[in-house]
Amino acid sequence: MCGIVGILGTRPVAAHLIDAMKRLEYRGYDSAGLATLEDGHLARRRAEGKLKNLEAKLEAGPLAGTIGIGQTRWATHGAPTEANAHPHATPLVAVAHNGIIENFRQLKDELIAAGRVFSSQTDTEVVPHLVTIELEAGASPQEAVARVLKRLTGAFALAFLFEGFPDLLIGARKGSPLAVGHGQGEMFLGSDAQALAPFTDRVTYLEEGDWVELTRSSIIVHDVSGKEVKRAAVISQASAFLVDKGNYRHFMAKEIHEQPDVTGHTLARYLDLAAASARLPELPFDWATIDRMVITACGTAYYAGLVAKYWFERLARIAVDIDVASEFRYREAPLSPGGLALFISQSGETADTLASLRYCKEHGQHIAAIVNVTTSTIAREADVVFPTLAGPEIGVASTKAFTCQLSALLSLAVAAGRARGVLSAAQERAAVDALAEVPRLLVEALRLEPQIERLARSIAKVKDVLYLGRSTSYPLALEGALKLKEISYIHAEGYAAGELKHGPIALIDETMPVVVIAPHDEVFEKSVSNMQEVAARGGRIVLITDAQGAETAAMETMATIVMPTMPSLIAPIVYAVPVQLLAYHAAVQIGTDVDQPRNLAKSVTVE
Ligand code: F6R
Repeated sequence: MCGIVGILGTRPVAAHLIDAMKRLEYRGYDSAGLATLEDGHLARRRAEGKLKNLEAKLEAGPLAGTIGIGQTRWATHGAPTEANAHPHATPLVAVAHNGIIENFRQLKDELIAAGRVFSSQTDTEVVPHLVTIELEAGASPQEAVARVLKRLTGAFALAFLFEGFPDLLIGARKGSPLAVGHGQGEMFLGSDAQALAPFTDRVTYLEEGDWVELTRSSIIVHDVSGKEVKRAAVISQASAFLVDKGNYRHFMAKEIHEQPDVTGHTLARYLDLAAASARLPELPFDWATIDRMVITACGTAYYAGLVAKYWFERLARIAVDIDVASEFRYREAPLSPGGLALFISQSGETADTLASLRYCKEHGQHIAAIVNVTTSTIAREADVVFPTLAGPEIGVASTKAFTCQLSALLSLAVAAGRARGVLSAAQERAAVDALAEVPRLLVEALRLEPQIERLARSIAKVKDVLYLGRSTSYPLALEGALKLKEISYIHAEGYAAGELKHGPIALIDETMPVVVIAPHDEVFEKSVSNMQEVAARGGRIVLITDAQGAETAAMETMATIVMPTMPSLIAPIVYAVPVQLLAYHAAVQIGTDVDQPRNLAKSVTVE
């Protein structure tokens, strides 16, 4: 994981490195550090915790120099301490790293046996030591890096800065993304184009196995065999503006409230509202030939895929095989060539999702991706991309990306159903009309915030919460539990309501709230039976339903949140709002760091 950046500039670089690192904080925020060359000599500042701690250190002890590298870390090997913060360095070279050096143990043993002394528990530190040995033996920086790269296994991106070389940065990419930014007499390295956006929009994405030598006036890219190769520069769409919180206390709150707008934008991309039909880009496959599809993703994006399984199976009669990417990539799933594999990712950089994509590509699948960051690796490697137009999502807990993913997925399922002759024109029209109501219904759902905030005060006091749902509300129960645990640190579980009696019912007592997500749909009566099972055992129910559901259930609850009435097809999109708000307000009540909860990172670029 982690974000890395490098600048070969004409002005002092420390402040610019910090700017770029702020844009990479979504990749980790356990610790941060940077190194520059002051009069040709390596100098470093590192700090535990968020970037503001590093900024304070720089204020107390500024770093000069017009060349430097920086890193914001998500700890994989070694606690998030200052000693483990990057860049790691010897007197000859400093290294910023994103990813994992898998064979670091063997390398470290070998280096220790050769008398090298380590000052961190990281996997990264073997790299500067290995490069130093080569430099001490008389190799040039380029030769040293080329030799060391051959010895490293794992998935990583690296930036190197050398003592006494004020016009040279080296970058390397194997598995983790790395972009080169072209400036006017300046050059840049960054984990993504977003980090480089304040400096340049001309970007070259390194390919797998590439390493690059940068001076202020030249770029030399080598491929995995060491041969010099040309890699095209493209104009990046990444925005130079850092998004702010507006009038909200947290990015998460702002992003929850943006949902009516951004789902509207996303739907406008995939629906022709005037013609009441779904409208997709040209596809490299024919829906008529697709009987099975694979959906793979992680976390919240996986839950979006789980909802979509119901939609694709019902609306398009396509059997869906869905799995979390960390399992799928090693499952050796048999795939018939010509099949469809769909990947869902906000960041487009999630390591397991990307590895699953590559597995499917090797096995002859058509690769489709739903991504929010269209400059991402997953977007670039897919055959067809369906962007979600959520805009930058900064809060670590995914909210607006989720509802945009659902909006795109339902549009896709409708298009597939129509193309396969499963849906009639009238059914397509009804589905599109329902989708068109989503933004308005989200506005109505957001009006329930004061009631949910009051409820959250009670939820904030408990230790465990159970979420239940059936059909498309089941993935939403999983998502509700994930949201609550990741930002409030309250233990929560999501279950298919019908599974309750197969074990989890043993947990029910008067201390554990049970959140039941149950729009008045075709499985509502079944959900009511499950609620009665909970009530009979003294469980406290929070019912999220609509007016008809509330009336039919007629149950005593801890709280009943009455959602607007809507077609059940679109309920998972709109019912995301109360589960997001409940988690958000519980976390605010408890006082956690809502936008950057402990131990997490926005983009998980290691497996
Ligand atoms: C939870 C959350 C994560 C992400 C997951 C996948 O709120 O944000 O579970 O959904 O890490 O990330 P992407 O969508 O970037 O692949």
